[in-house]
Amino acid sequence: MNNHKKTTPDKDTPHESAAKHVSGESIYVDDIPTTNQLLTGHVVYSPYAHARIKSFDLSAAKKLPGIHAVLSAKDIPGKNQMGPVIKDEPCLAEKEIEFIGQGIFLIAGENAEICRQAEKLIRIEFEVLEPILDIDTAIARNSYLGEQRTIERGDPQKELQTAPHLLEGELHTGAQEHWYLETQACLCLPGEDKEMFVYSSTQHPSETQLLVAEVLGIPVNEVLVEVRRLGGAFGGKETQANHYACWTALLSRATGRPVKIRLNRDQDQIMTGKRHPFRIRYKVGYDEAGKILAADIQLHSDGGAANDLSYAILERAMLHAENSYFIPNIRITGKVCKTNYPPNTAMRGFGAPQAMAAMETVIDRIARELGKDSAEIRRINFYGLKENNIAPYGEIIENNRLPVIYDKLIRSSEYRKRHQEIARFNQQNEFYKKGMALTPVKFGISFTTAFLNQAGALVNIYKDGTILVNHGGVEMGQGLHTKMRNIAAAEFGVDVSRIKVNATDTSKIPNTSATAASSGSDLNGMAVKNAIGKLKVRIAESIASHFSKEAGKGKQSIAEDIIFENNYIYDKKNPKRRISFEAAIPICYLGQTSLSATGFYRTPDIGFDRQKGKGRPFHYYAFGMAVSEVLLDILTGYHKLVRTDILHDVGESLNPAIDMGQLTGGFVQGVGWCTTEEIKWDEDGHLLSHSPDTYKIPTADDIPADFRVNFLEGYPNPNTIRRSKAVGEPPFMLALSAWLAIKDAISAVGNHEFEPPFSLPATNEVILLSIEEIKKKIQKKVSATLV
Ligand code: MTE
Ligand code: MOS
Repeated sequence: MNNHKKTTPDKDTPHESAAKHVSGESIYVDDIPTTNQLLTGHVVYSPYAHARIKSFDLSAAKKLPGIHAVLSAKDIPGKNQMGPVIKDEPCLAEKEIEFIGQGIFLIAGENAEICRQAEKLIRIEFEVLEPILDIDTAIARNSYLGEQRTIERGDPQKELQTAPHLLEGELHTGAQEHWYLETQACLCLPGEDKEMFVYSSTQHPSETQLLVAEVLGIPVNEVLVEVRRLGGAFGGKETQANHYACWTALLSRATGRPVKIRLNRDQDQIMTGKRHPFRIRYKVGYDEAGKILAADIQLHSDGGAANDLSYAILERAMLHAENSYFIPNIRITGKVCKTNYPPNTAMRGFGAPQAMAAMETVIDRIARELGKDSAEIRRINFYGLKENNIAPYGEIIENNRLPVIYDKLIRSSEYRKRHQEIARFNQQNEFYKKGMALTPVKFGISFTTAFLNQAGALVNIYKDGTILVNHGGVEMGQGLHTKMRNIAAAEFGVDVSRIKVNATDTSKIPNTSATAASSGSDLNGMAVKNAIGKLKVRIAESIASHFSKEAGKGKQSIAEDIIFENNYIYDKKNPKRRISFEAAIPICYLGQTSLSATGFYRTPDIGFDRQKGKGRPFHYYAFGMAVSEVLLDILTGYHKLVRTDILHDVGESLNPAIDMGQLTGGFVQGVGWCTTEEIKWDEDGHLLSHSPDTYKIPTADDIPADFRVNFLEGYPNPNTIRRSKAVGEPPFMLALSAWLAIKDAISAVGNHEFEPPFSLPATNEVILLSIEEIKKKIQKKVSATLV
């Protein structure tokens, strides 16, 4: 083997669990082998959106054979609280009920059937109160979860008065169910004394650990949370997995036995929060060319009954309200409404998709008003490279890839030619119309709460030369562990087969942040690299002295010259002195060298002042663009994505196969939110769409028939792990191209003379009503000309 050749890191490796996923051998919480002492945990939740508990009686339920515990708020040994940031979520309801799905009692029994029987024996009397079930009512009743936030630059009010053109409107965006394949689940095992071992499907093991300790009233060092992998999360397990962990731990403590709670699909959809619905009002002033001069954007989100992460989500929405466009005078305000739904929570994009949908609507409408191509309006409003490059909150948009992506994508997608072809098609066809749209994404990478941008790692090398990597991030299907393995292999200069990434464990890496905000690989990757750097220094010293000893009177080797490459360790000044990595490790061990090291990373130079609405919240931005074309059947509203071209910036990909999966999967999940995924409740707040027969996530047929997805090549990202870029959330918002392509096809029904009414999701119903509206306008115009 030639060890002088520069290694090309082995990075196009498949997902480390891919084979196990397809064979069904991957272990999730529900697959962990347990003893016959295991009890089933069951949550009795509120049947009313708003009510007071007048009285209850658990005695009959407790007496049922096979039942081991029935708990109410009074039985919580610690704090009756599980709010993640703001302490406004009781672990079990005490007096007031604020949403359907709120936990009131916990039952542990021999099996699920006995638990359900026990639930029927519980006597409870409610006084039913009137709920608030939409944003407009919440605003009218002054029902909010916090204060208004503002980001402002220039003098938008003045400029709006003098702008040549003014546009006003309102957009409603719908909720979205996470639809992770693995529902919420937790297994708890009581240990010695106060110990509690928690196997949770959580994105945030450290927070789960803390909240379990708080409800049990024990120190945090008595709780261990382990997470092997999640069967998907998409933000839905960032805070809300905590609930199931707290409840399971309470039952386990009360019975002294292992307990497992695993929701079925209906329970999961009913009990958990969703993507926030938003109401967005905009007023925009622009000139003849379509350049935006001023904007006033008001965001209201539906937070549900408690804070959860709503203000962080609102903040990210506000920080993305201008999407990719420079708007000199702008005011963005936001407020979270309190309603009687389960607290809404993180979901891929974290508020940004909702805000971007409004901004892209604005651009689309300006183009229609001026009779110009919307891609052109986008181009002239993009952030510039040297000027017009400061965001409303003051951050400079560095390494702006919008212009280069736009130019390349317009060419590779044959945008102009197809634009004409579509116009021709629409002239020739009465019942089928085509539409196309290009939309950009600029997504800020970092937690906007600056201190969360930290991560830890622990890397062990064993005597046989194998390496075990631990880090604080959680594997939820996004390939984080695979990327960490690729990074470790590249840093050590060894094959990936030598490296294993362990389950995430709070006893190995303490005080971690959630795996969220797409920053899992950025943060943990740097921490892993930091740990490996320390180990390499120690190994280099040990091996340099080994080489020197072997050289006898020859020139001495020094640690600084030791290189790790192609599974070998060698002296770059004297390349004949080399030893395989595997042979080197026992030498280090016998030389009493520590082969275990921790690593740490914090993102430098970021910070955001919430009160002032100014700062540098993001380490950098991810950029991408998509062009989508749809075919619409105007009689049924059926539509098909005939082609989507994506060009997206992932810097130097850590693992191209994984990144491609994130791009395509993120886009399709976004298409679901924009089109078929409609959540409906009845007038009392009962969720109507609580199973896959009424809630339609995308199927294979919703993937674009012609799907051309490419990375922007040749643009490494400075100051990140191996020059990569975060990829988890940004592609989601590229789906707005599909949404606006549908609108474009509807608009073609009226020969682009009328603005189609539109909302999100654009379900078949929305599409047909919009087409009807346009037909009415055509009718009116015809009769007007006849008169
Ligand atoms: N991909 C899969 N397969 N499953 C998931 O649950 N979650 C998304 C995204 N991609 C998710 C996913 C969300 S919401 C985030 S924030 C990121 O992955 C988190 O992982 P990362 O920070 O490692 O990218
Ligand atoms: Mo992702 S919504 O930040 O978990």
